[in-house]
Amino acid sequence: MSIHSTALSAAFKRFSFHVLKSASLRQFVSQSRAISQRAQQQHIPLSSKTQTVQTLAPSAVSTKANISSSAKTLMSQDQITESLSKMDISPIYTSDKTGSDDKGEGTLDNPFKTPLQAMRHWGKEPFPTIYVDSKEEGEKFSVISQAQMKKITKIYQREASKAESKIKKEAEEAAKRAANLEESKSIVISEDPALPAASASKINGLSQYRGQRVKVYGWVHRLRRQGKNMMFVVLRDGTGYLQCILSDNLCKTYEALLLTTESSVRIFGTLKEVPEGKSAPGGHELDADYWEIVGRSPAGGVDNVLNVESNSDVMYQNRHLWIRGENMSKILKVRHATIKAFRDHYYDRDYVEVTPPTMVQCQVEGGSTLFKFDYFGEEAYLTQSSQLYLETCIPALGNVYCIAQSYRAESSHTRRHLSEFTHIEGELPFITFDQLLEALEDLVCDTAQRIMDSKYGQLVLDLHPEFKVPQRPFKRMDYREAIAYCKEHDIKKEDGTYFEFGDDIPEAPERKMTDMIGEPILLCRFPKAMKAFYMQPDLADPIVTESVDLLLPNVGEIIGGSMRIYDEKELYAGFKREGISPDNYYWYVDQRKYGTTPHGGYGLGLERYLMWLLNSNNVRETCLYPRTADRCKP
Ligand code: 4AD
Repeated sequence: MSIHSTALSAAFKRFSFHVLKSASLRQFVSQSRAISQRAQQQHIPLSSKTQTVQTLAPSAVSTKANISSSAKTLMSQDQITESLSKMDISPIYTSDKTGSDDKGEGTLDNPFKTPLQAMRHWGKEPFPTIYVDSKEEGEKFSVISQAQMKKITKIYQREASKAESKIKKEAEEAAKRAANLEESKSIVISEDPALPAASASKINGLSQYRGQRVKVYGWVHRLRRQGKNMMFVVLRDGTGYLQCILSDNLCKTYEALLLTTESSVRIFGTLKEVPEGKSAPGGHELDADYWEIVGRSPAGGVDNVLNVESNSDVMYQNRHLWIRGENMSKILKVRHATIKAFRDHYYDRDYVEVTPPTMVQCQVEGGSTLFKFDYFGEEAYLTQSSQLYLETCIPALGNVYCIAQSYRAESSHTRRHLSEFTHIEGELPFITFDQLLEALEDLVCDTAQRIMDSKYGQLVLDLHPEFKVPQRPFKRMDYREAIAYCKEHDIKKEDGTYFEFGDDIPEAPERKMTDMIGEPILLCRFPKAMKAFYMQPDLADPIVTESVDLLLPNVGEIIGGSMRIYDEKELYAGFKREGISPDNYYWYVDQRKYGTTPHGGYGLGLERYLMWLLNSNNVRETCLYPRTADRCKP
C-alpha cells in the first residue's frame, strides 16, 4: 500500500468515525486537506484528489445542515484550499526508529517517538489518526493497530486521571493556604513592654550581649520552617550571620507565612549560647520574642532568579543579587581588605596617594585600545593608565601611587581581561631597575602578608585553603631566556612554530610557562619594538628595554612596569617611533625639561591580584560589576 492509499483509507475510517460521533465538516475538510497535500507530495493527479473530496463530501454534509449546501456542491481545488487554510486537524505521525518525544512535532517530517506522546500532544479524546512505523516493505508509515491504540489509550487515560488528581490536590492545597493566610491576619504580635529594652547591635558585635535582649537588623539569608510552630531564620547583615528561632505566634502571622529569603527584617530576642554539640555562626543564636518585616522579597526569594542551574550569563545579568551569596560577599570583603593592605603598604613606606583624572587626551599603552568620547567638541579618552600623571607628581611628592580605574577597549574574551579595571600604580624617582624589581617583590609579599594578618585572612583561606605568602626573592628571567624556555619545553605558538625574539608571548603559553615553573617570575627586558614609547632602553643591550612583567601562577601577568625614558630628546624619538603627536604631551615632556631624573614605576591589576590570591577562575569574579566586551550592565 502506498502512503497515499494508506492516507485515503485512514481518512475514510476517520471520516466515518467523526460522522458517527457527529463531528463537524470542518474536521473532515481538514483531513482532506492533509490528504490533498500528501497527494501533491506524491504527484497524484489533481482529478483523483478532486474525486476524493467528491466521494467523501456528501456523507459528511448530512451531519451539519448549515454547511450542507456548500459541501453538497462539488468544491473546486481553490475553494477547498481556501476553506482548508482556515482549519487545522491532521494525522499525527510517530516513529520509534526516527522520532523524538522531546523535539518531534508529530508531522511526517518530524514525528514523535511514541503514540503516547502523540496523545499527550493532542490533549483529549477522540484522537486524530496516529501513524506508526509500517511493517510493510517499502512503506514508511501505517495507521496504528486498534489493539495498540486501545492499549496506549488506557495508559493515556491513567496518566490523564493522575494529572487531574494532582491539579485537584494542588487546588485544594492552594485553597487551604489561602484560608490559612486569611486566618493569619487575625494573629497580631507586639513587643512586650515588660521585657528589658533591647540593645541594637550588628551581628559581628553580638558576643558582648550573650544572655541579654538585643535587636538585630538584616536580610533573611536562609529560612526553614519546622512544623507550624517553629521557624529558623539565618539573618545576614553584611558583618556576619545569625541564627534566629521564631516560635509559636511569631511564625503564624501573615508576614511570617509570606516571609521569603532576601526579605529585610528586624528581630528582637535574647541571645543564647548554642547548647553543647550544636553549632551556629558565632556560637550563639537569637531566641526571638518579637520581629517586624522591613521590606518583603518576592515569593521564592532569590532562588527563583539564581540557582545551581543558572548559566554564567544569567549570573552576571543578576550580579546585583549574586553578590548577596556567601562566596561572592567573601570575595568582595577580601577585595576591600586588599585595597586597605595596598594603602597601608604605601602609607608605611611614605608614598603619597594622588587621584589623577580618568578623562584624558593622551594614550599610554597604544591607540588601539582607547575608548574615545566627545569632550565638549574635543576628542578625549578614558584613561588606559595614570602613569604619565604619576610621573609628573614625583618632583612634587617623591614616591607616589594611585588606585584608579583604567579602561581598555580590547575585545579579548579571556579569563583575565576587563574593559574597566582597578589599576594600582606606583612611581619612584631616583631608582635603578634592580630597585624597581625589589619594590615589586616588596609590594606583592607585604600586601599579601597584611591581608593574611588581618581579620579577613580567614576568608582568603576559606576560598583558597592552600594560599601561602610567596618567598622573596622572586625568580628573575629575561625575555630572551623565556623564548629559550618555551623552545626547550615545547611551548609553541598557535601556528605550531616556536617563539622567536620579538614575538609577543600571549596569555596561554605565558601561563603554561608560569604554571610549569610554579613560582612568581619577574620577566624582564622585553624588546623595544614590543613595548610602549616611554620605556627606557637597557644601556648594556639597547635593543631591549628596562621593563618587567610579574607573572604569578594561575594568572600570568599581574604587573607591568619599567624604567622611564628621562632624556627629553630620546622621549621625542619614542613619540616618533610610535607615531604619536607630542602636542598633547607638553606637560609630560616638561617633567624631562625641569630637573629630569632616572625613575621607574609599575601598574598592578587589582582583579588579577585577587584572582591569584583567591585562586579564582576569572577576573569577572573579583570585581563588583564587570565590564567586558559583551557586558556593560548592571
Ligand atoms: O601592562 P600594562 O598595560 O601597563 C600599564 O598600563 C603601565 N602604564 C602601568 C605603569 O607602569 N604604571 O597594565 C598593567 C597591569 C597589567 O599587568 C594587568 O594586571 C592590568 O594592569 N591590566 C588589566 N587587567 C584587567 N583587564 C585588562 N584589560 C588589563 N589590562 C591591564
